[in-house]
Amino acid sequence: MGDKKIVGTYAASLVKDGDVVGLGTGSTTAFAIAELSNRIKNEEISIYGVPTSFQAKLLAIESNIPLTTLDEHDINIAIDGADEVDPKLYLLKGRGGALLQEKIIDYNADRFVVVCEEKKFVDTLGKNFPVTVEVFPLAYRKVFQALSSFGTPILRAGDKKDGPMVTDNGNFIIDLFTSVKNPKSMEKDLNDIPGIFENGIFTSKCEVVFTKNGKVTILKS
Ligand code: A5P
Repeated sequence: MGDKKIVGTYAASLVKDGDVVGLGTGSTTAFAIAELSNRIKNEEISIYGVPTSFQAKLLAIESNIPLTTLDEHDINIAIDGADEVDPKLYLLKGRGGALLQEKIIDYNADRFVVVCEEKKFVDTLGKNFPVTVEVFPLAYRKVFQALSSFGTPILRAGDKKDGPMVTDNGNFIIDLFTSVKNPKSMEKDLNDIPGIFENGIFTSKCEVVFTKNGKVTILKS
């Protein structure tokens, strides 16, 4: 079994009967969603999912996981992936452009469980991935200028679409290439720029599940 499947399956085992579960986005949480589907079928647990993206929503529907919204329920546990994890368990997320809904769901969960491979650990955020920033299209030029004082911003291009990538929320993504020296303050400073909805620096409390020497390992902040 691959590492992504091991950690995804483990995270799904933390979900209790009756829980409302934040369903993260990406290839690792897909395994958690698959295991939740198995548990609904085999153990007859009753849960609701709150998806963090269109991808997670479709996957949940295909997996027969009943869905709900933040309007209707609080979230007991969120399971989500990460692009980078630093020694304080601060995260970079947003490779797939789903950071805005992810942060709303993950930060509002009683328990935030991050599933990733050991290779996602870095000394300093920004080592292998940019800081993803979700931007209101009307503000693009001014946000781009403002981001230039934090690093090198690049508008994310669409895949099989001319022009910029458009998020699930109808916005643009600017990838900010920089070394994140102080994640807590940078997360706030970026969000102070008018036109930025959210950025991919995640500094809330979390538990990171990964495999070390083939064993499931959990670190808590
Ligand atoms: C989606 O935008 C991201 O935040 C993902 O959660 C993150 O990139 C992890 O994805 P993988 O599990 O596919 O690495």
